Amino acid sequence: MTRKYLALVCALLLVLLCGCAPAAPVADDTYDDMIVVGFSQVGAESDWRNANTRSMQQALSEQNGYRLILDDAQQKQEKQITAIRNFIHQGVDYIVLAPTTEKGWDTVLAEAKSAGIPVIIVDRMIEAEDDSMFTCWIGSDFRKEGDEAVAWLEKRFGDEALRIVHLQGNIGSSAQIGRTEGLDHALAEHPQWELVYRDTGDFTQAKGQELVEALLARNVQFDVIYSENDNMAYGAIDALKKAGLQPGKDVTIISFDASHRALELVMAGEISFDVECNPLHGPRVQAIIEKLEAGGKPPKLTYVEESTFDAATITREIMDGRGY
Ligand code: AHR
Repeated sequence: MTRKYLALVCALLLVLLCGCAPAAPVADDTYDDMIVVGFSQVGAESDWRNANTRSMQQALSEQNGYRLILDDAQQKQEKQITAIRNFIHQGVDYIVLAPTTEKGWDTVLAEAKSAGIPVIIVDRMIEAEDDSMFTCWIGSDFRKEGDEAVAWLEKRFGDEALRIVHLQGNIGSSAQIGRTEGLDHALAEHPQWELVYRDTGDFTQAKGQELVEALLARNVQFDVIYSENDNMAYGAIDALKKAGLQPGKDVTIISFDASHRALELVMAGEISFDVECNPLHGPRVQAIIEKLEAGGKPPKLTYVEESTFDAATITREIMDGRGY
């Protein structure tokens, strides 16, 4: 809270000395007793992302003693950098960053560090020159997710010849990097698996559909779609159905996230295997902040537990008990 008053004093000095006011408000009496958190969110590209935003809003609520300032970067790193600078200028107590890509954060995080604002990274990782630039990270092991997906393919098809279409997420994001590494590793080990197409669908349903429609229009033949998230898989499924193909029978679909809608499709046999990516980081971030407020030290890196689902393991009971 002291930081907020410091920012207010600086702003008053600025007005007195230069006769100019800063662009953004620096303190507001209504929120005096609250912990102010600036959250730079990637965007709203997927069901996963929306569940993640909701989870943060529910945990860091006014009822729980927080004022959450949410900034949606529309999948653009420049927007995230601007948002973080605004948070610093506003004198927030904590910055939470869900990074678009891994690279390119050193300068802005050094600015947050100089301002004495703890930075908590969630979901994807960053590549930092110096890891003292952030307080801690919590998220998924994306490489493990990729390895689990190809392990299922290996079990299902063994050494059969396979033609694989690969829909990638945003290039340079940890989710894309880890899931792509998993597939690349398996492709190197299975010469009879052929990668017939690879491109980014930006983690969106519209782009997933567009890419698969274009492939079908070119008459490209394939047996498997390895889609780096559920939303691109939904788009791919729509494209297949429009072309008269049966997802799950004519084409095997592997996906990531395991959101509610996708698990319904696993039950229906249209998605063959879905690797969970857990978006419910709100309560985890809340626990980290509470620990820091109490003078504690949270672990630097925390990987969340995740499961996998196929027709043999999914049940209505599992579906009903899930929060996303
Ligand atoms: O970083 C997590 C990924 O980002 C999820 O798999 C995807 O759906 C989201 O947009």
